Amino acid sequence: MAYQAKAKILKNSCVGGNYFKMEISCPRVSKSALSGQFVNLKISDRFIPLLRRPISIHNVRGSKIELLYEVVGKGTELLSRKKAGEELDLIGPLGNSFSYVAKRTPILVAGGMGVAPLVFLADKLKKQKPLVLVGAKTKKQILCVKEFEKIGCAVKTATDDGSVGFKGRVTDMLKNLLSTIDYRQLTLYACGPKPMLKAVSVIAKIKNIPAQVSLEEHMACGIGACLGCVVNTKKGMKRVCKEGLVFDSGEIIW
Ligand SMILES: Cc1cc2nc3c(=O)[nH]c(=O)nc-3n(C[C@H](O)[C@H](O)[C@H](O)COP(=O)(O)OP(=O)(O)OC[C@H]3O[C@@H](n4cnc5c(N)ncnc54)[C@H](O)[C@@H]3O)c2cc1C
Ligand code: FES
Repeated sequence: MAYQAKAKILKNSCVGGNYFKMEISCPRVSKSALSGQFVNLKISDRFIPLLRRPISIHNVRGSKIELLYEVVGKGTELLSRKKAGEELDLIGPLGNSFSYVAKRTPILVAGGMGVAPLVFLADKLKKQKPLVLVGAKTKKQILCVKEFEKIGCAVKTATDDGSVGFKGRVTDMLKNLLSTIDYRQLTLYACGPKPMLKAVSVIAKIKNIPAQVSLEEHMACGIGACLGCVVNTKKGMKRVCKEGLVFDSGEIIW
């Protein structure tokens, strides 16, 4: 069940470059939030930006919800200027969630900002000691390594330019890894750009590993009303904001 609620901003600070972390207090939403879900934020009372902006739930601690976001345009720029004590109108928690598969070792694969919801997931799966593969273009865009380590995850990084970790795509690192380990008891969870999720899906199919992918399509309403976010699946067109964000990778027609 999703609510429209006023959240109190507790903290909103830059964590490096264009990346910001916001903590909000919103007991009504935090209570029912599941990993993989998102909130839709009304950033301004003015005309611009007109539409709410979807941001993944990065983590939940009691009544506190954490959001991790990158400033990429007007909406996120306005968001970054909000101060502790201000209120934020949000709708959430929205979308479905990741499913936890017992007795299988989770490998979490993050591409760019796709890392944001995987911290909440890692926290939920911590007893299963997840391995997290974090990929980005360059070292400066590798996020959350310490957070994952604090949760107890092993973390490997990949950058396109080789500035830290494996040089190349995070999906190539995944492919290399799977050629060296017994992968029969693994589950893959991935969030990132669509080409990366497609690559994860191909790898999962070849190796016969169950994989859940979280899609982040451009959204207008975020509540299933406008059909602006549909994807083609083997079971017909589905709304990413409502039937997703999380899908079995084999379900998507890429
Ligand atoms: C379900 C969902 C969860 C998200 N979670 C996060 C998150 O946790 N942290 C975070 O930083 N961002 C997240 N995003 C992306 C975030 O919503 C956009 O970056 C934001 O709406 C941009 O608003 P803006 O006004 O700042 O930029 P705009 O001016 O609207 O856009 C600036 C640029 O960003 C691109 N952009 C906007 N939305 C998306 C999108 N969905 N996917 C790819 N590119 C986009 C635009 O094409 C444009 O090039 C999420 C998106 C979705 C759909
Ligand atoms: S954004 Fe409107 S239906 Fe998904």
